[in-house]
Amino acid sequence: MSLDPRHREDYLEFLRFASVSTDLDHAEATRACAEWLRNKLKAIGLETTLHETKGQPALIGRTPPDPEKKTVLIYGHYDVQPPDPVDLWTHPPFEPHIENGLVYARGATDNKGQIFAHLIGLEQQLAGGRELPVNVAVLIEGEEEIGSPNLLPLIEDKKDELACDVVVISDTSMVAEGVPTFTYGLRGICGVNVDVTGPSKDLHSGFYGGAVMNPVTALARMIASLHDDDESVAVKGFYDNVQELAEWERKAWARLPAGDATLKAESGAPRIVGEVGYTGLECVWGRPTCELNGFYGGYQGPGGKTVLPSRAHAKITCRLVPEQDPKAITVLLSDHLKQNAPPGVKVEITPGHGGRAYFVDPNVGYGKAAQEALRETFDGADPALIREGGSIPIVCDFQDVLGADTLLLGLALPGCNMHSPDESFPLAHLELGAELNATLLAKIAAVEPVTETSGK
Ligand code: BES
Ligand code: MN
Repeated sequence: MSLDPRHREDYLEFLRFASVSTDLDHAEATRACAEWLRNKLKAIGLETTLHETKGQPALIGRTPPDPEKKTVLIYGHYDVQPPDPVDLWTHPPFEPHIENGLVYARGATDNKGQIFAHLIGLEQQLAGGRELPVNVAVLIEGEEEIGSPNLLPLIEDKKDELACDVVVISDTSMVAEGVPTFTYGLRGICGVNVDVTGPSKDLHSGFYGGAVMNPVTALARMIASLHDDDESVAVKGFYDNVQELAEWERKAWARLPAGDATLKAESGAPRIVGEVGYTGLECVWGRPTCELNGFYGGYQGPGGKTVLPSRAHAKITCRLVPEQDPKAITVLLSDHLKQNAPPGVKVEITPGHGGRAYFVDPNVGYGKAAQEALRETFDGADPALIREGGSIPIVCDFQDVLGADTLLLGLALPGCNMHSPDESFPLAHLELGAELNATLLAKIAAVEPVTETSGK
């Protein structure tokens, strides 16, 4: 089925909202995007409510519930990461540009394109007053990129409306173009912001340098203490609960049309590094990390300045694997930083959001139905079964509150530049996603209910 030009125009309109959740300067655009989406969900034929939260609103759209049918919850997010650094974009990030079948814009893949593909699928299936084979609830939030800080209370509050047999999310990757991919694990996340203060004001480095601890130097030493030379994380207790990768996973991943060569090519890094004994891919998908997201302080302007700065700052996040507890790791990390601070500075640590890693057996529950739907949509190709290094913290809350597992069926391509300049999404993946949505809903509807077997 080829893409209706109307869907294409709608998608481009969706991309024009600068819905950057982390930056309050964009609050108005973010809200406008939510309102646009509410109208879109209504137009598709879903009974839709825009729910206020303490932050950005979330939308819930539903088909009229039929108790005879299973229920599928489709989750996505309309917020995006900041487009910075804007000067590295070939075209302005919120003015979508189409070239060679790719749409370039912030959010093109993550997550506007992927959630929009679901909406196109639903619209096509509901056209002419037809019914879906399952009940569908759609939940689209505006704060995923800042760790969904206000979504849990909404899910708890709307537990009945969101009750479902399984959750479906397209916000992950394909290992390569044309390779259907089922993601059965995601890393968790936790982090801290660190503020180091030395002297009460910026000083002349000649007057005071040598006698007053420089906070940038102090922070650099604290940061340097986080890793050992073999690239492992040096925080005591960090690996305590970490499970080794299973042999079957390592073997299966080694056979994929993805690996360290792809990582090198797509990242543009001079070489792929990682913990001794693991491939780069294994490090990204199955090992925890401690990552500097930002480190700043002192004079940043043109030329130089002989200053001994008063303050230095760092933003650090850890990616976590199953069995690591985000709260416990945050404490270990904070203690480690404080213990490694040289004398003469004050260290303030502010914990950030967190979320556990996600891991399910790809062959249980609705996993088989998802794999069949992928195979059918991709002309019989076997789906790759992978874990990924990114995080979607809310999937654990879906398990805890709704008792439902999540099927992660992503359509992002390895070179899509999510979170980077020149993010893109193939227009063809809108059709692909719409088709996958229809096939998946049919496969889920056809799954036999699990009957209690009397013990043999
Ligand atoms: N789509 C990503 C998650 C993702 C990225 C999955 C790469 C698989 C591979 C999602 O929108 C995202 O970026 N999440 C954030 C969450 C964080 C801010 C709590 C992430 O992973 O950084
Ligand atoms: Mn993202």
